Amino acid sequence: MEYRNIVLVGMMGTGKSSVGQALASRLNWVYEDTDAATERAQGMSITRMFAELGEPFFRKAESETIERTLQGRHQVVATGGGAVLAEQNRILMQRSGLVVALKASAETIIERVRSDQSRPLLQGGVEERVRHIMESRKHAYDFADLHVETDGKSVGQIVDEICSRLEQERA
Ligand code: S3P
Repeated sequence: MEYRNIVLVGMMGTGKSSVGQALASRLNWVYEDTDAATERAQGMSITRMFAELGEPFFRKAESETIERTLQGRHQVVATGGGAVLAEQNRILMQRSGLVVALKASAETIIERVRSDQSRPLLQGGVEERVRHIMESRKHAYDFADLHVETDGKSVGQIVDEICSRLEQERA
């Protein structure tokens, strides 16, 4: 089976961007990041969008980016952790190709995002916020076609795992 796109979903800090870039270069596909594309389209950072225009503005802009981006093909698309919350986004993702969910434990996520200032939802108490968001999004990624554990694995190992599972799907 040939996929049009591979869409990476998962919590913040599960490695969607680094895995996405490595997977795209392995497949010789284009890499797209919906956070970066939303920032480009709006001409401002996500932090500023949240602070000045509010989360609903960001979510609407994010959905527009997803709709536009997923019209392309042969792309690995890394999405923001909350992009799956809107049903319309999930439908577009499923229609546009294979959806791969990256998983990680709360401890791993906290470690990965601890020093990052660019995530508005984590401001003012990373640990507590990560645990709270993980709990509230417990089933948000269940719709994905593939689920990949990333704890204790290198980017290369995760890409290998995704590729071998793609091969199995094809067989
Ligand atoms: C968000 C995740 C972020 C970004 C925004 C909101 C979320 O993307 O879209 O800060 O709601 O989980 P990453 O998952 O790439 O950090």
